[in-house]
Amino acid sequence: MSAVIRLEGVTVERDGIAILQNLSWTVCTGEHWVLFGPNGAGKTTLLQLLNGYLWPTCGTVEVLGRRLGQVDVRELRRSIALVSDALAGLLNRDLTGLEIIVTGARAHLNLFEPLTTAEVLHARDLAHRIHAGDLLEKPFSIMSTGERQRILIARALMARPGLIILDEPCAGLDLARREELLRTVSAAAHSGTAKAVIFTTHHVEEIAKVFSHALLLSAGTAVAAGPIGHVLTSANLTRAFGLPVNLIRRHGRLYAHASI
Ligand SMILES: Nc1ncnc2c1ncn2[C@@H]1O[C@H](COP(=O)(O)OP(=O)(O)OP(=O)(O)O)[C@@H](O)[C@H]1O
Ligand SMILES: [Mg+2]
Repeated sequence: MSAVIRLEGVTVERDGIAILQNLSWTVCTGEHWVLFGPNGAGKTTLLQLLNGYLWPTCGTVEVLGRRLGQVDVRELRRSIALVSDALAGLLNRDLTGLEIIVTGARAHLNLFEPLTTAEVLHARDLAHRIHAGDLLEKPFSIMSTGERQRILIARALMARPGLIILDEPCAGLDLARREELLRTVSAAAHSGTAKAVIFTTHHVEEIAKVFSHALLLSAGTAVAAGPIGHVLTSANLTRAFGLPVNLIRRHGRLYAHASI
């Protein structure tokens, strides 16, 4: 199977401090990964590396078969859909859900040309398939956090990316909205549009069944990486968070109990 992401011996230093240290990681086609770890573990830094917004101090980074340093990162970024809070803040908030989705196909943050019939049909179909069809007419400015995330995922798929990256999409969501969003994330992963989906979180409860693998980071170092069942264990989480964690698995989902 071909690698979607391949990192070899990657270290990122900032102000003389290593915020990622000697990280090697391979994501193969068809694998959906959770990037898991405490605050400050280096998750967002790793995502910035994958998008070419940041360079490793040493080591190599390969994304979708292209090595950073040897490709035009702006071109590479067109194949990577990054869904983050920062993106939500850059889009024109006066646009409707439908219009926001279409901007994804054009790699723009605003709408400069009227929608074409083909774009409207594609965006509508896509939104319905990933459970965001209720948001097509709603202005982005009045959407709740969860609604905004669902539209941003639809927007991401519109560009037919090779890789989808979701940075803490469940942050700020209540239980029902979280489950709604996870349904959208799962549908996006199942759609087969992207070769892999990467999802960051600090809560095991946010890990949908569609995720097969996990990379557990703590203080810039990989504690474990591989199939979720081997990586997300009470012992590994206890190590990563530095306090006793008891993990419970029910119906394919995880729940954590921690005590100080
Ligand atoms: N530009 C920078 N200069 C110096 N240190 C930085 C810089 N950016 C991030 N860091 C540090 O690197 C560490 C990792 O940050 P990062 O944002 O990658 O963590 P994270 O795992 O995404 O955390 P969270 O779960 O809180 O989002 C933190 O200690 C952070 O302060
Ligand atoms: Mg982060």
